[in-house]
Amino acid sequence: MVENDYICDLNAQISLFNSHFNFINQEENMKSFKPNAWVLPQPVLIIGTYDKDGRPNAMNAAWGGQWDAHEVFISLGSHATTDNLMQNPTFTLGFATTDTMVAADYVGIVSGRNVPDKVERAGWTVEKAPDVDAPVFKELPMTLECRVKQKLDESETGCFLIAEIVGVLCDERFLAEDGKPAVEKMGLITYDPVHHTYLQLGKTVGHAFSDGKQLR
Ligand SMILES: Cc1cc2nc3c(=O)[nH]c(=O)nc-3n(C[C@H](O)[C@H](O)[C@H](O)COP(=O)(O)O)c2cc1C
Repeated sequence: MVENDYICDLNAQISLFNSHFNFINQEENMKSFKPNAWVLPQPVLIIGTYDKDGRPNAMNAAWGGQWDAHEVFISLGSHATTDNLMQNPTFTLGFATTDTMVAADYVGIVSGRNVPDKVERAGWTVEKAPDVDAPVFKELPMTLECRVKQKLDESETGCFLIAEIVGVLCDERFLAEDGKPAVEKMGLITYDPVHHTYLQLGKTVGHAFSDGKQLR
């Protein structure tokens, strides 16, 4: 009897809690999926390195981002890029665009270990970065110059790379009137890990640290 009262009370409390927080009825409105690496949106980063003979290489990476104000991180498998970073811990990080999408995908499916002239085949123009010993691909609108600071959980299958941003380069064609990079002009793409497609980023829809003030 006491137990029944307790269960009735618990059910009443749960239903009150659900209605209070307006919980969505999962069965009717939400489909559940098994855990997936579906953090959205994902970047299309192009890591540029030189090999031991000074030949440029490029690879595509979606599993990366900003570690803190001055650092980036990348989840890096075992690649030619990883080999290159062993002997020269500097690299560039460019952002792929609609115009460079085919080449960006190409450098993500072919390895410099098997195709040493991969960057030439991608059709990209290479220039050495001013502040690090790594290649800049001139077709990409904006590029970070980076230096490896730390490798976490390093093994033969790769590591989590943390790197300092030592400089930022932006093609002058992609500057805004205030002289800063105009992200909207770049035609940047994002990787959709659900359907394995690339989507172009769209237009400005609001102002950060500002529009929310309407609800204060
Ligand atoms: C859309 C996309 C995203 C990728 N993201 C990553 C990633 O985050 N980390 C990684 O280690 N490899 C990633 N890859 C795989 C590498 O880009 C790929 O293995 C490439 O051939 C490595 O080139 P390399 O051996 O010349 O360095 C990705 C590939 C694609 C197409």
